[in-house]
Amino acid sequence: MNIIAVANQKGGVGKTTTVVNLGAALARKGKSVLCIDFDPQANLTNYVAGCEPRENSIASVMRAAVLFQPADIRETIYHSERFGFDFIPSDLRLSEADIYLATAMSRETVLRRVLEPVRQAYDYILIDCNPSLGLLLTNVLVASNQVIIPVQTQYFATQGLSSLEGVIGNVRMTLNADLTTVNILLTFKDKTSVATAVTETLREQYPQSVFSIEITRKQEAINSSMMGKPAGGDTGAEYRALADELIAREG
Ligand SMILES: Nc1ncnc2c1ncn2[C@@H]1O[C@H](COP(=O)(O)OP(=O)(O)O)[C@@H](O)[C@H]1O
Ligand SMILES: [Mg+2]
Repeated sequence: MNIIAVANQKGGVGKTTTVVNLGAALARKGKSVLCIDFDPQANLTNYVAGCEPRENSIASVMRAAVLFQPADIRETIYHSERFGFDFIPSDLRLSEADIYLATAMSRETVLRRVLEPVRQAYDYILIDCNPSLGLLLTNVLVASNQVIIPVQTQYFATQGLSSLEGVIGNVRMTLNADLTTVNILLTFKDKTSVATAVTETLREQYPQSVFSIEITRKQEAINSSMMGKPAGGDTGAEYRALADELIAREG
């Protein structure tokens, strides 16, 4: 069992693309995978299953858990044949969570308690985080044992990275000593000198934790999300190679 938070408070860095395509790649290798959409914008949900409204989502279970109402996470799990994984949808109601969590009992551990019934059922649980450093992210970090930080190989890419590392460090020290592995995934890699410079800087600064696989900037990444299917071509191959590297790093 591996619970991986895919996190970066910056938007548009490739979090959702990574959860979906890494999830599909792990599933293709025979792993059992659950992807959780933990962003009120529900991009992962729309990518995998379209925009139809759903009664049950991660938002409804979080809300119920805070109110001590009975709700079983297993009732929110859908399966995607196309992607080969199970997933839990999100919706806009999750944006209220920052407010009701603020006054909730043990507010940082709600998601961990919600996930308890499914923790052991999967080889991998991948969580697509919302782009902020608030209580939703804290809940994900408390429930996880690994973090993957997608970083765009562009100017200002490293800005904010130390704040995120700070939050991860605080969670590890206080609420979750199991949060031991933090890896950086370089995304939107192209042949520009900026991308090369950012890559060199990050590999120098974090020699152990930057994945050797890099995700190239490709139209295929955009097309596959519009068509609601796992990325093919070079992008698909890169995410399958990432799955191999992830598994190798664990071994
Ligand atoms: N490797 C890539 N090359 C080109 N476009 C990409 C790539 N990865 C993601 N994108 C596109 O960039 C946008 C932001 O990616 P997304 O995964 O939604 O980021 P986040 O979840 O961090 O906001 C989306 O339109 C997505 O299709
Ligand atoms: Mg996203």
